[in-house]
Amino acid sequence: MKVFLLLSLLAVGAHGAIPIDRRIDCQPDSESTAESCLARGCVYDETTVGPIGTPKCYMRADEIGYTANFGPGGGEILTKNKGPSSPWGDDISSIRYRISGLGNGVLNVRIGTEERRYDPAPILNLPRETLPSDETLQVDIAGTDPFAIAVKRGDGSTLFDTSIGGLIFTDQFIQIAALLPSDKMYGWGENIHQSLKHDFTRYTSWGMFARGDAPNSTDLHTANLYGVHPFYLLLEPSGKAHGVFFLNTNAQDVTTLPAPGLVYRTTGGFLDMYFFPGPTPGQVIAQYHAFIGRPFMPSYWALGYQLCRWGYKSLDDLKSRVNAVMAAGIPLDVVYADIDYMDRRKDFTTDPEKWSGFNEYIDQLHSKGMSSILIFDPAVQADYDVFQRAKDKKVSFIEWERADQVQPEIQSQYPMANDTKIMLGLVWPDRHVAFPDFLDTTTATDEWWEDEFKRYYQQVKFDGAWIDMNEPQVFYTRNTPNDEIPSNGRYPVICPKTGPDAKWDSPPYQTHAVFYYGEDAFLGQDSLCLTGLSQRGTNRMYNTRNLYGWSESRSTSAVMEKTTGRRANVISRSTFASSGRYAGHWLGDNSATWSDLRTSISEAMEFNMFGLPYVGSDVCGFKGVSNEELCLRWHQMAAFHSFYRNHNAIAYPSQDPAVWPSVAAATKKANEFRYRYLPYLYNLHYRSSTLGDTVVRPLFFEYPLDEATHEISYQFMWGPSITVAPVYTQGATSVEAYIPAADTYFSLNDHNYGSKVTTGLNIYDAPTTSNAPTFVRAKLDISAASIIPRHQSSAITTTALRALPFSYLVVPGNGAASGTLFWDDGDSIVESWKDADYVLADLTYSSVGGNSLVVNVTRGTTTIIVPTLAELEIFDYPSAPDYSSFTLNGAKISVNTQASKYSAITKVFTVAFSQRIPLNKEGVSTIRWNNVNKS
Ligand code: NOJ
Repeated sequence: MKVFLLLSLLAVGAHGAIPIDRRIDCQPDSESTAESCLARGCVYDETTVGPIGTPKCYMRADEIGYTANFGPGGGEILTKNKGPSSPWGDDISSIRYRISGLGNGVLNVRIGTEERRYDPAPILNLPRETLPSDETLQVDIAGTDPFAIAVKRGDGSTLFDTSIGGLIFTDQFIQIAALLPSDKMYGWGENIHQSLKHDFTRYTSWGMFARGDAPNSTDLHTANLYGVHPFYLLLEPSGKAHGVFFLNTNAQDVTTLPAPGLVYRTTGGFLDMYFFPGPTPGQVIAQYHAFIGRPFMPSYWALGYQLCRWGYKSLDDLKSRVNAVMAAGIPLDVVYADIDYMDRRKDFTTDPEKWSGFNEYIDQLHSKGMSSILIFDPAVQADYDVFQRAKDKKVSFIEWERADQVQPEIQSQYPMANDTKIMLGLVWPDRHVAFPDFLDTTTATDEWWEDEFKRYYQQVKFDGAWIDMNEPQVFYTRNTPNDEIPSNGRYPVICPKTGPDAKWDSPPYQTHAVFYYGEDAFLGQDSLCLTGLSQRGTNRMYNTRNLYGWSESRSTSAVMEKTTGRRANVISRSTFASSGRYAGHWLGDNSATWSDLRTSISEAMEFNMFGLPYVGSDVCGFKGVSNEELCLRWHQMAAFHSFYRNHNAIAYPSQDPAVWPSVAAATKKANEFRYRYLPYLYNLHYRSSTLGDTVVRPLFFEYPLDEATHEISYQFMWGPSITVAPVYTQGATSVEAYIPAADTYFSLNDHNYGSKVTTGLNIYDAPTTSNAPTFVRAKLDISAASIIPRHQSSAITTTALRALPFSYLVVPGNGAASGTLFWDDGDSIVESWKDADYVLADLTYSSVGGNSLVVNVTRGTTTIIVPTLAELEIFDYPSAPDYSSFTLNGAKISVNTQASKYSAITKVFTVAFSQRIPLNKEGVSTIRWNNVNKS
């Protein structure tokens, strides 16, 4: 580090020395030279030697910023200091900062202008709830020129220290930089991070701007993907964790500095930062979700296995693949249709020839207890009845600001749109499409969307909605010499990147979302122009593009409830912070590669932190030719992801599990495990919807003080009680799994089922014929769930499954265990949890003074059929039980001894009751028994 420091002192334009680990890049947009760098008022260091990505041209950050005037009348006003000016746009001379507590330790720091600026908060309408916490946060003024703050805990430790300098506020470029107490940062999205924990050995910038671009995990790719989540969680040296949310919807980016530190930059709005005090990682996330809104509750069937592909040649083609999967005995719940089902890829139509009989087929699926999810794209072709009805209903579309901006070569082709300023673009349909403005300030757009869903539902009784292309993605916007020449009048949208209208499409600072793509890139690329108007002409895509998918999700979720009368199950490609209230997410157009399988493991954990636990990848890979081994391992891993769907792109061979006998067998086995454990998974979703828990979570959430867990990216916890170490490398027949020493874990794998596993990092067999190595936790105190409600066996659909009785898996630590059960009808709309009809029970096991299992139904129901309890399975059971001693609430119950067993070697005890135990009425049921040898 000393050598680095010395070299940087030789930099051209340097005043004070800025350590090499905290430079703020002054020329991320192009190759820098001494001349271009100095022209920006920055320092140029040609011979830069430092961590990877150290900028040669960097800001004199320690001098840049604002002066705090605490004198009379000064208050919260900051004035631009004498330091260097912004390289991108004019500094606003006077800005305002405000610090406020939201209660319960949540802190809000706002830095904005004196005049009102765009504020996304009214649109998002977040619940902004807080949760009780013993922690407090405060802000200390860490400097007056430049003005700097330090966000601190009550114990004095600093979480976010802006004394690094570099605060810039212009109309279209805003920057804040901070030093951080550790490099254990997790979050920011949507990007492909190579590891769950951010890499602070180097400088790395990440774009955050919704874009329909596919993930690529082969090596470091810092591109912005479909959604935007400006949130991170940081583990401090003390083991405490906090979270930070930047409430901003403009194009933005973040750079991590080796210091460790960060530079956050955005192109609009203002700095509206929320600090969540934790102190545990789980509490941070629960606090964040209370603030942004907790996730929707998926239906039970939506947790079943789902089969999809793009490029079914016809309904018959689809049927033959579904039949093949079912014939292999693989549990399957949901059948998808991609844009193939539509007539020339137009929303709300069915291909009359190749897909005739679609509705009858879906009815047949229903009669088998299965469901269907159909794709809907947001934009509608500008020449058919759906569009005409929209016009008649005065629906709002994304439009140009003025008539003279409308592209006549496009508009003139569409009599229905020719009298409008609607910005028409190209997506899947043959002809141009119009993009509904789901932020419409009137109800017209939502009402039309609802009407179209209901009309189509009259024809085809779909159960869920898959909303795609909602960044929104638009084709052929590249406008470079290599562009496709438009044929058949397929002219691209052309954004005003120069001239008087260029303010929105060519802002001074274009973010990493442009720098990443190189010279010809621009913000509106692959989408609508940012000058486009949204919110019924009162706002611009410049501010709201990142909310397009969010607003479509909100609208579609409500519409689905009204259309089906049942719970809405929507998955959306583009998401923003708080989208989880309305939708889940699939990880987009991945490839059939081992690296994409690997990063989907950590990405699913990130989306759980972001409040979208209903998340998963395209199993076996979307693009490219999948193969037997990859597809098999992918199923084994994804069987633990809430959204579990095999999906494939057009032009690639079938990759459903029935294609290869080995994959069919492994998927059947993985699905059977999943289906058996669905009551546990469903309970995790209930907790997520009501408490803000994560479903799939990193190990460090459960073991923040165990440093070995901090860097684990590809092994995960499935709720608090189960850890999964999937295979994600080619040719592997074993995996390395880390078992924390703080608890005891038992194997759930066939070959050593129920046996205690050694703690620490160990190698476990992972043959293709076994499920992903899975271990269940016996927490040494009984507070964590170690009674796991399961079905007694699996079934081919969740509908059949729900009729099967329960079996509780009891994994005691020190002879005791506890858990919870949630159950409802699996599909009704949850208006409010207070009024919803469901059963909740506390489960407690004890081996003190005889053995007992107590089921305390704290919330009962008479309307919902709760599976009865037919079986208990207890691990680490010390000695032979006395089958004749079982009582239920004091009355003898008989045990089916044929179906019960105890092994003194494995110490697994399974007891099956001849008479099933009902569990739906409020009250306590106690099962007691003794062991043969009572001593
Ligand atoms: C892009 C989506 O990401 C993909 O899943 C889908 O198959 C295609 N669009 C076609 O609809």
